[in-house]
Amino acid sequence: MADAPAVARTSAAVRAALDGPLRAGRSIGLVPTMGALHEGHLSLVRAARAGTDVVVVSIFVNPLQFGPGEDLDAYPRTFDADLAALTGEGVDLVFAPEATAYTPADARTTVHVVGLTDGLEAASRPTHFDGVTTIVTKLFSTVRPHRAYFGEKDFQQQAVIRRMARDLDLGVEVITRPVVRDPDGLALSSRNTYLSPDERRDALALSAALAAAQRGWAGDADATRADLLGTLGSAPGVRLDYAEVIDPETLEPLEGVHDGPAQAVVAAHVGDTRLIDTAPLQPASTDRA
Ligand code: PAF
Repeated sequence: MADAPAVARTSAAVRAALDGPLRAGRSIGLVPTMGALHEGHLSLVRAARAGTDVVVVSIFVNPLQFGPGEDLDAYPRTFDADLAALTGEGVDLVFAPEATAYTPADARTTVHVVGLTDGLEAASRPTHFDGVTTIVTKLFSTVRPHRAYFGEKDFQQQAVIRRMARDLDLGVEVITRPVVRDPDGLALSSRNTYLSPDERRDALALSAALAAAQRGWAGDADATRADLLGTLGSAPGVRLDYAEVIDPETLEPLEGVHDGPAQAVVAAHVGDTRLIDTAPLQPASTDRA
C-alpha cells in the first residue's frame, strides 16, 4: 500500500522540506484546500502532479475568510480521511498548520484586491476575499510554489487570486481547473455534506439551470440572466442569492449581446447551506493559465 504523504505543521518545516527541491531546480505545485477533500480537490492534485515536480497540498480551515455567523465551527474537519484520500496520489507534502500559529491574533496585515472583490460573493460575505487573499499570499510565501491550482467553482475567488498574483508579481502561475460534478450534476463542495437528501435534490436546480444556460447560450447576456433568475427564483427549496452573467476577467455583469467569453455564476441557499456554482458560456471549459 502507498505511504501517506509527509505532514508539516509549521512554516519552518515546510521550508526545510522544500529548500532542497528548490535548490535542485524542481518545480513546486501547490493545491490550497480547507480539507474535507473530494474528487474536485483530487482533480487539482492530479493536475499539479502532471504539471509540477513536487506537489504540496495545504489543509487549513482559514478563520480569516469566515464572517460572523458563518460556518467556521461547523466546517467539516476530516484530516485522517483527507490524508487517506491523498495517499497514492503522488503528494509529496501536506501542510496543515495550527490556526493560532498561522493566523496569530496580533497580525496586522491584510491583502486586499480592489474592485474584483466588490460584488457577487462579497455582497453577502464582505470580508471573505480579504481573508482568502491574505492566507493565499501567506501560503505562497511559505511554500514558494511555481504553480498553484484552484477550482473554477469558486469562480470569483480564482479571478481575485489570479489578479493578486499578477499585481504583486508573486511569480506563481495560477491554474484554474473545471468544476467537478456528481453524476447528477451537483457541483462537488465540502459543504454538500450539510445537505439533507431532500435539500440535495432541491440543490440540483442550480446545475440544471446552468446547463440550460449553456445549451441556450446565443450571446445574449440579458436573456440568459433573465432565464437563470426566472428558473432559480422559483425553484422549490432554493433561496436565490444571485444569478449573473459576467465577464470572466473583470467579473463585471455583461449587458446585451456579447460575442466574447462569458461566465454564468449563481449562489443560493438550500436549507441552511449556501451553495455556489458556475458554468462557462462558451464552447469548451479549458484551463485558464
Ligand atoms: O477554496 C478554498 O478552499 C479556500 O478559499 C482556500 C483557497 C484554500 C483559501 O483558504
